[in-house]
Amino acid sequence: MGQAVRFYYKNVMTDVTGAEHGISPKQLDELAVSAAAAVRQVNEQRAAGKTRYRDLPYDEKMVARVKAMVKEFAPGCENLVVLGIGGSALGNIALQTALNPYLYNTDPKQRRGPRLYVFDNVDPGQFASFLEWITPQLGNTVFNVISKSGRTAETAMQFLIVRDILLKAMGQDGYRKHLLATTDARSGTLRTIADKEHLRTLEVPDGVGGRFSVLSAVGLFSAAMTGTDIDALLAGARDMDQRCKEEDARKNPAAMNAAINWHYYMRGKPISVMMSYSHALIDFADWYRQLWAESLGKAKDLKGSEVFVGPTPVKALGTTDQHSQVQLYREGPNDKLFTFLEVKSFARSVTSGPTPECAPELSDLASQEMSKLFLAEKLGTEYALTKSNRPCLSVVFDEVSPYTIGQFIYLYEVTTSIAGALFGINTYDQPAVELGKDATLALMGVKGYEQLAAEIRPLAARDEGFMI
Ligand code: PA5
Repeated sequence: MGQAVRFYYKNVMTDVTGAEHGISPKQLDELAVSAAAAVRQVNEQRAAGKTRYRDLPYDEKMVARVKAMVKEFAPGCENLVVLGIGGSALGNIALQTALNPYLYNTDPKQRRGPRLYVFDNVDPGQFASFLEWITPQLGNTVFNVISKSGRTAETAMQFLIVRDILLKAMGQDGYRKHLLATTDARSGTLRTIADKEHLRTLEVPDGVGGRFSVLSAVGLFSAAMTGTDIDALLAGARDMDQRCKEEDARKNPAAMNAAINWHYYMRGKPISVMMSYSHALIDFADWYRQLWAESLGKAKDLKGSEVFVGPTPVKALGTTDQHSQVQLYREGPNDKLFTFLEVKSFARSVTSGPTPECAPELSDLASQEMSKLFLAEKLGTEYALTKSNRPCLSVVFDEVSPYTIGQFIYLYEVTTSIAGALFGINTYDQPAVELGKDATLALMGVKGYEQLAAEIRPLAARDEGFMI
């Protein structure tokens, strides 16, 4: 414990990125004032019980329930399969990638619990291949269906497939033994099924949207099953909470992060690139994409005026994307704010061997730690970007651990809330996602959607005149 996640913003200042693209000290003072007002607003929302995700790290009852469920399901479990999508999946994936070794699923020596698979799509090729592999192993497999509503088509479809396989192979008892549902405490389709079919359940807490739910049972169960110290994860979140509720914005990393992102969005930089220099953190860049996009991409502000705001989040991986994206990042339009994820100390170290005599040009790499090269590449890329007047932020992890990951999650959740307050929008709804969901139901022939199906049909009918 005691390891920190720090937010570093010097490389957005005018003395680094120039007068046109940098932030002057005077602008930073003004931003701190706006950010402080937004923090107060967000703190008031919390006090009024409107942002219940803020209190998840303190929910001891929920943690006890998750641990009890782990005790019930862990014995004999070799495979844990999560069925869910969006906020019900991305946190599970991100925690797994961050906190378990790269070959956790493949190498029995590297895992501390069951293999973990998270299915957040309905690609029949992918799912059929998986089912072929998992079906002979149902006896040591647990499925966790995560859906607040239970009406999400993708998760519901996966559930119906798995339910059928379990019932046919193992009967009612086997089905109940090998599947749990994580869903709303009282209402929704999955709650109805779970109650009727006597499934064991965990809860998606009231008032917590999917994308803010990773620190609830939604993310904690699979993390705990695979050996993550969820107490340390939540301790990290609680510690970050102390920093993120600070009304002096200069001391509050979420406030400064939100304000700087807002500043650049309002000044011609609508793209926000999160570039991770850590494989472990890349799926948190994916998690951030959803958090940022669904929360901040809104047509109307809180007064109902059309604003059509929303920074476009992009994920990138260093060093991989240095050889793919950095040409664009440096010489393309200066319309991006970069946030690097940097790790000071890696859990593992690898050192190179000596240089062959015939290749003295490789001597700079001989007998060197790989982490030294990784960090040099990060700093080199940041330097190159700032030389092209591209503003850069860094989130610096002392190390990747449950404690620092808890800090990072909480930092970005609160950053999103503060950014939403600065944009003056509703951060917690996602009205634009609904039409596509309804259209899918209409095309699947669901009753009550006939009118919508008729509207969509001309779009679905292929007009050969346009097919080349
Ligand atoms: O963040 C969100 O609210 C969404 O991404 C949901 O998590 C996603 O649509 C899945 O919904 P549900 O949990 O109802 O299946």
